[in-house]
Amino acid sequence: MRITIFFAAIASLLAPIATAGADPAPSERVRRLLAEMTLEEKIGQLDMPSHGGHYDPARVAAGRTGGVLNFGSPQEIAAIRALNAQSRLKIPLIFGLDVIHGYRTLFPMPLAEAASFDPAVAEQSTHWAAVESRAAGLNLTFSPVADLARDPRWGRIVEGGGEDPMLAGLFAAARVRGFHSGGIGATLKHFAGYGAVEGGRDYAPADISEGTLRDRYLPPYRMAVEAGVDVVMTSYISLNGTPTTASRRLMSDILRGEWGFPGYVVSDMNAIPEIALLGVADGNGEAAKLALEAGVDQDMDGEVYIAELAGLVRDGTLPEAALDRAVARVLATKERLGLFDEKPFDPAAASAVLGRADIRAASRALAAETFVLLQNKDDVLPIRPETRSIAVVGALAASQADTLGNNAARAVPAETVTVLDGLRARAPAGTRIDFVEGCDTACTSDSNFQAAAAKAAEADLIVAVLGEPQDHSGEGASRASLELPGRQTDLLRRLAATGRPVVVVLLAGRPLALSEAVDPAAAILLVWYPGSEGGHAVAETLFGDRDPAGRLPVTFPRHVGQVPITYDALPTARPGKVEDRYTSRYLDVALGPLFPFGHGLGYTRFTQSDARIAARKLGPDDRLTVAVTVANAGTRPGREVVQLYVRDVVASRARPVRELKAFGKLLLEPGEAREVVLSVPVRSLGFHRDDGSYVVEPGRFDVYLGSSAAAPLIGSVVVSPGYEAPPAGLSAERFEAGHMTVIGKSP
Ligand code: BGC
Repeated sequence: MRITIFFAAIASLLAPIATAGADPAPSERVRRLLAEMTLEEKIGQLDMPSHGGHYDPARVAAGRTGGVLNFGSPQEIAAIRALNAQSRLKIPLIFGLDVIHGYRTLFPMPLAEAASFDPAVAEQSTHWAAVESRAAGLNLTFSPVADLARDPRWGRIVEGGGEDPMLAGLFAAARVRGFHSGGIGATLKHFAGYGAVEGGRDYAPADISEGTLRDRYLPPYRMAVEAGVDVVMTSYISLNGTPTTASRRLMSDILRGEWGFPGYVVSDMNAIPEIALLGVADGNGEAAKLALEAGVDQDMDGEVYIAELAGLVRDGTLPEAALDRAVARVLATKERLGLFDEKPFDPAAASAVLGRADIRAASRALAAETFVLLQNKDDVLPIRPETRSIAVVGALAASQADTLGNNAARAVPAETVTVLDGLRARAPAGTRIDFVEGCDTACTSDSNFQAAAAKAAEADLIVAVLGEPQDHSGEGASRASLELPGRQTDLLRRLAATGRPVVVVLLAGRPLALSEAVDPAAAILLVWYPGSEGGHAVAETLFGDRDPAGRLPVTFPRHVGQVPITYDALPTARPGKVEDRYTSRYLDVALGPLFPFGHGLGYTRFTQSDARIAARKLGPDDRLTVAVTVANAGTRPGREVVQLYVRDVVASRARPVRELKAFGKLLLEPGEAREVVLSVPVRSLGFHRDDGSYVVEPGRFDVYLGSSAAAPLIGSVVVSPGYEAPPAGLSAERFEAGHMTVIGKSP
């Protein structure tokens, strides 16, 4: 108790200092430029107009633009660079684009990559995305999305890393590293809480308690900041009543003050004038002042800084120092990105890089890492060698745009390998592949079902490519239903009625409620939107050249009415019981999710045995260490993802029923067994109090180990004494991920 009071007192002393002192001292170049710039030139640095929006070439030539977005072709970018060369100070421009999962060669969507449970997958894909982007003349992507999303109705869940803070954070950080190694800057977005929009409706407000904000929503952003992200973008929403784009607390106190973020903050597109629409500013002038003073340095296509800031400075409403601070941040970020020292850009060189064979090969290999085998009755997969004919059903099987997914940057749909293409290329000679659509991609009519079923009945195996067309997810694509779209479930039933086994290849950008699909489908392979080479990766997986080794980074509900449903819920005093009405459940839906977080099958079977907790009494500087023997009990090689979850059993506030604290993937040959050790810092087991302080309270922690969030309890440890973090932002300790080491052959 004494300790608590002591730290709280220090926290209140340090808070103002931390807030004020975050900006690094400007370099000599930045100081010189600031001294030389006119007011208009300074304001220009704070403006980032969009192609098709407020972009004005005359302003670029006059040195009154800081950066531009949505220009994609190397030629356009070269032309804008030439215009900028006419400006007085020739300050290099930011060239930004939403490179979310590739530029010309598309990789799986970020949610899919999280399913690999291997951040290196995202680091590699973003590396290649950056190599192409840089060749095209870009120097900044608006990625990663670190918005924790726990409501699958929200279409943008596809852009992030799933429902778990640690997993999402590891992937956000990996993306930053990948973009950097490929040669472009990264933008963390959408700070903060965008994933918590009410009802999963895009742009709706979010209301998040302080503890939940710090324990769940802020960690992925924080992990991206620690990975060195260059720019941070605000969101469109209000969080706890304050538009994030006007939130001094988020942009200045937390981001810069607590976390020491050295870069600049850009608004989301048009989000500054939207502060007025959220009812928190009386017009654009006040919105501009609120945003700038909150710490939003650059206006993305809102045309508000350009229109309002000069007047606000001249009439004394806004101190010029506030403007200078923002300009210094933009310039310093450009300097850190190396833009002042860039070699001349050659647009002609881009064609040798875009879509290069090695980049497409990487896309093919990485796509296969993200597939999740949700069910596989009677081992219907991999496709048996004696299969002589396959009926491929569903318009999605041949849709190039839907194979790519949304946010397709500058991909060329015609260069995309669909599932049908992939199957045709991979099927052994003599295996017939017949294709029949059954219905359009959204499956609006059943008029062709009869014909499709008749065709399918002639085949040994039916591969039904179902799920969401790409425009069902992404920005502005919230859904109130999580069912397969249109009449797809009916189509699936018709196919199953033929008596032929039906393998569902599922395209999706969110968890779907598949309760009606699990019976008629023999197998379900979730392939998300697999990207430019997706069809090859899918076919190779179906035929067993590659093993599906993805695991769900999000809970799959039985029914949309269960949402929000996440594995790390807080406990209820009355956990759901089928036979007891007065427990936490629904009258009309079975208990629990359809497929839990972390679930995913392979083509072999694994056992985990002899789990041992190394030490049962742990101090705050120790690590919780667990060893287990993992064996491949099947006949094919395969990869298992070992997952360790922990529950803080008694604390001063209710703690989640379990939280993922460490995981690792290992390849095992048939019959092979290995000992693995998972280790978690005790300091990561704590939580935040409402005052922002972080604590690991002493007491018992239960440990679960297995292959999904349904892993069994293997024992408990006692932590004593506890741990209390010093104030002012050392809570990164909570997010130090545990890790797994493969020790060697099991004794
Ligand atoms: C989205 C951002 C995106 C921006 C620029 C906005 O509508 O919310 O995520 O970066 O547009 O394309």
